[in-house]
Amino acid sequence: MEVNKIILSEIKERRSYRAISSKPVNSEIVNRLIEAAGFAPSCFNKQPWRYISVQGEAGLKKIQRGLSSGNSWAVRAPLFILVCTKDDLDCKMEDGRHYAEFDTGMSVFSLLLQAQKEGLIGHPIAGYDQELLKNEFKIPEDIRLLTVLVLGYRGEADALNERQMESENGSRVRNPLVKWYSEEIWSL
Ligand SMILES: Cc1cc2nc3c(=O)[nH]c(=O)nc-3n(C[C@H](O)[C@H](O)[C@H](O)COP(=O)(O)O)c2cc1C
Repeated sequence: MEVNKIILSEIKERRSYRAISSKPVNSEIVNRLIEAAGFAPSCFNKQPWRYISVQGEAGLKKIQRGLSSGNSWAVRAPLFILVCTKDDLDCKMEDGRHYAEFDTGMSVFSLLLQAQKEGLIGHPIAGYDQELLKNEFKIPEDIRLLTVLVLGYRGEADALNERQMESENGSRVRNPLVKWYSEEIWSL
């Protein structure tokens, strides 16, 4: 394959950076992020993902209040995207396989790759008060707030603790292939 058609290097360049600036992200970029999210594959094309983008001052304050203490690095972010779904929005197979969260994850990755192309940090987090954020953003009871995406341009690292600083600049940590990949038959 021609080298310029290989996306692996770009995939490997994506990182969940935490040193984020408060510089606003313009709405054309936000629109492209959402467009990218919408083109992910999904079971029977059910498109179970539900997103809320938040850039307004009042909304940002609500999210800041809901962040866990370990995610205080994210308080400056100018853009958050709330990612929601529920099982009923996607295929539920009789043998117990449910695809809503899987398909939503693929949609999120599509959004994150677009964010990277736009020169943005895109960092998914699980550390937030789901109940508080669901209330603040009027997310229905039966919908799960699966993750919050922290988005913005790279900025100063002064809000990072020592451990976060190490991960910001350190080498990538990944399990060895033998732990999760086998050929021809399960050998894990
Ligand atoms: C579902 C999910 C939840 C995460 N939650 C947090 C979080 O609360 N705080 C945080 O700093 N990073 C969080 N991360 C980022 C991971 O720590 C990061 O993706 C992982 O260490 C791999 O690093 P990389 O994304 O730079 O390759 C989360 C990532 C995912 C996918």
